[in-house]
Amino acid sequence: MIVNWPERFFCNSVVRRFLQRGEAKQLRNMRPMQPGGDILEIGCGNGAGAQLIFEYFAPRSLHVLDLDPAMLRLARKRLAASPAVVMEGDAQRLPFPDHSFDAVFNFGIIHHLEDWEQGISEVARVLKPGGAFYFEEIFAALYANSFWRHVVAHPTHNRFQAPEYKAAMAHSGLVLLPGAHETRLTMLGVAVKRADG
Ligand SMILES: C[S@@+](CC[C@H](N)C(=O)[O-])C[C@H]1O[C@@H](n2cnc3c(N)ncnc32)[C@H](O)[C@@H]1O
Repeated sequence: MIVNWPERFFCNSVVRRFLQRGEAKQLRNMRPMQPGGDILEIGCGNGAGAQLIFEYFAPRSLHVLDLDPAMLRLARKRLAASPAVVMEGDAQRLPFPDHSFDAVFNFGIIHHLEDWEQGISEVARVLKPGGAFYFEEIFAALYANSFWRHVVAHPTHNRFQAPEYKAAMAHSGLVLLPGAHETRLTMLGVAVKRADG
């Protein structure tokens, strides 16, 4: 589900840029990557996350994907001078073969999926064995509480907190690394696809 105008305003704000830079640095510190990887970002929004991925993870290739044509226009403009491939697509049906990427990034998009467990299963499918899922995710206690559910728009059925999110990753063969930051509202962490996955 694409963002409504208040969330679009926040996603495109300097506050979001500041927070996202801090998160990218923390993710890099949790699991640095060798330069030269093949990386996918789901729900890329305006492309700011992709710039941080170039800066902190030095990929060989970077594909970024979003469902919202307005966000994709901003991402294409922002990333025009970069080698990033900007694509329209649905994170619940990733248009890539199995075992395509060394890393997949999720900056706050899994909770926008109607079938969020399918989204996690797709992340695991396109990761190479040993590949890493870098994520920042927010939970229903934040976006669906009695205030924020009137301000922002998200799917309402089958919502999740950290235990369900971690169980879905484990079910898809993604092993959460120690050092993740988890609260009742948000989680920042890295999970690695099992080598036999
Ligand atoms: C909260 S915004 C986050 C944007 C960006 N990652 C950031 O951190 O600023 C969620 C993004 O996910 C995208 N999105 C929602 N549903 C999607 C889907 N099914 N497939 C791909 N992207 C989706 C939205 O269009 C939006 O750009």
